Amino acid sequence: MFKQKVFSGVQPTGNLHLGNYLGAIKKFVELQKSHDCIYCVVDMHAITVWQDPAELPRATREVTSAFIACGIDPKKHIVFNQSQVSGHAELAWIFNCVARMGWLNRMTQFKEKAGKDRENASVGLYVYPNLMAADILVYRATHVPVGDDQKQHLELSRDIAQKFNNDFSASIQAHGHGEAFFPLPEPLIQGPATRVMSLRDGAKKMSKSEPSDYSRINLTDDADAIAQKIRKAKTDPEPLPSEEKGLEPRPEADNLVGIYAALADVTKADVLHEHGGAQFSVFKAALVELAVAKLGPIGAEMKRLVADPAYIDSVLADGSVRAQALAVETMQAVKDIVGFIRH
Ligand code: AMP
Ligand code: TRP
Repeated sequence: MFKQKVFSGVQPTGNLHLGNYLGAIKKFVELQKSHDCIYCVVDMHAITVWQDPAELPRATREVTSAFIACGIDPKKHIVFNQSQVSGHAELAWIFNCVARMGWLNRMTQFKEKAGKDRENASVGLYVYPNLMAADILVYRATHVPVGDDQKQHLELSRDIAQKFNNDFSASIQAHGHGEAFFPLPEPLIQGPATRVMSLRDGAKKMSKSEPSDYSRINLTDDADAIAQKIRKAKTDPEPLPSEEKGLEPRPEADNLVGIYAALADVTKADVLHEHGGAQFSVFKAALVELAVAKLGPIGAEMKRLVADPAYIDSVLADGSVRAQALAVETMQAVKDIVGFIRH
């Protein structure tokens, strides 16, 4: 009933890392073959926590450069920054009135980010998932590639779409939009690296904000930095197991095997078939070689692209115009459905 369409977003908030690449951007690239895709640099999400206005444009251009360097084609698909398309904020307001406090109160990411001082968190951080639902649904996108940490937010997006469809069902039909106006977007969370962990602590997610740079591999790291970080990565003293079950109680080993599998486009079982029984010194050397081969060219291309901000800004401008045209169409229908007068 709904045409298949892919949407996803990445926040311009600091160091893009291997988790962003394997959990999200690499999937974005693959989906271009089979779907119409819209990829967004979500600068409005970024400011839910303080961003230095002198830094934000650079971070927005860096994420855009990463998209292109990884292989996203901004001519065939759409690449833009969120704040240039007003439909995101407009639909988010309507969703603020659809979503329930009780739903948002369950969001674990808000609890983590707000920490102990919840009274002092921005209201934007609290309603962040409503804006995320608006991002997806303003294009009536059906499929959303994300890392595992976004699963709960995607479930909330589905709940919002469902409640909108129910609450306004009579009006949706009266305006000739059939039974349901919004699709229930499906998360695409698959493969061996949906949750890449810190290289220093197998219990913590690899993250942009972790103070230790040794916890993550940045997409702009050079070959020496990649090699050093992998060599220093925390492991245990045992050799690699030959079966996946053997990874269960060993989060650091599991993480490195998952990274290897995702970079090589094979399964963890395949990796263990080849490297089972190996000492970490040997396996890490193989992982360094693979990571440098895959990430080196991406980092080099990113550096070349960020040096040309005029080109990046032209990509974002072109993408925004095309996204805006799609969003306006949805918003006109939504305004009719909700009962807003428009000229
Ligand atoms: P963010 O940097 O929070 O905007 O995340 C951008 C995308 O990367 C989202 O789809 C996240 O789910 C994904 N992501 C972030 N960190 C990781 C990680 N450590 N492992 C896998 N995916 C991740
Ligand atoms: N919340 C996502 C993250 O932090 C980013 C995001 C914003 C997003 N809007 C989205 C992801 C819409 C998928 C779809 O990773």
